[in-house]
Amino acid sequence: MTRLVVLISGSGSNLQAILDAAKSGVLPAGVVAVVSNRADAFGLTRAESAGIPTEIVPADKFQGRHEYDAVLAETVARYQPDYIILAGWMRILTMQFLGRFPGRVINLHPALPGTFPGIHAIERAYKCWQEGELDKSGVMVHLVPDEGVDVGPVLAKEEVYFKKGESLTDFEARVHEVEHRLLVNAIKQVIRDR
Ligand code: GRF
Repeated sequence: MTRLVVLISGSGSNLQAILDAAKSGVLPAGVVAVVSNRADAFGLTRAESAGIPTEIVPADKFQGRHEYDAVLAETVARYQPDYIILAGWMRILTMQFLGRFPGRVINLHPALPGTFPGIHAIERAYKCWQEGELDKSGVMVHLVPDEGVDVGPVLAKEEVYFKKGESLTDFEARVHEVEHRLLVNAIKQVIRDR
């Protein structure tokens, strides 16, 4: 069974999509651990409900980024993952972490390749639409070979067109639906191509 460790920072709706797909057999893999940088991440509750081990690696203000990433890498490595999935993970990772898992870190980002890297991507795209600058945004899943933010080799992408008069909340809900499906399919593809 392909072993996945999923990193989260918040609600974990994308984690839930992976858990559901693994349970139903749609995804030929198993989540062997869920790791969060935040103790209050609801995704931890989702993991516990599924009987999956969880780890919390809180950012310690006395630690540098490399120190944090070394601890995080040790924690993740203990579970011997085939792939590490960044699903709603909100920290930038350095090579201190990425170097431990070459070619095996996969990130989900709610924007199209080359657009809106970083946080609040959905809201930033929505604002640009409101200003008449674009007619669509989207979702991508990509590898994370280095410290570039949301710019790695693309594994999957899907456009999400704005709808006239649509609220940010409604648009965001449609983006998340695409994320849940795209992420599972991208992981399936990576496993198939392995
Ligand atoms: C998603 O848009 C994810 O891509 C972003 O945070 C949002 C919530 O993700 N990083 P989740 O519900 O915590 O999976």
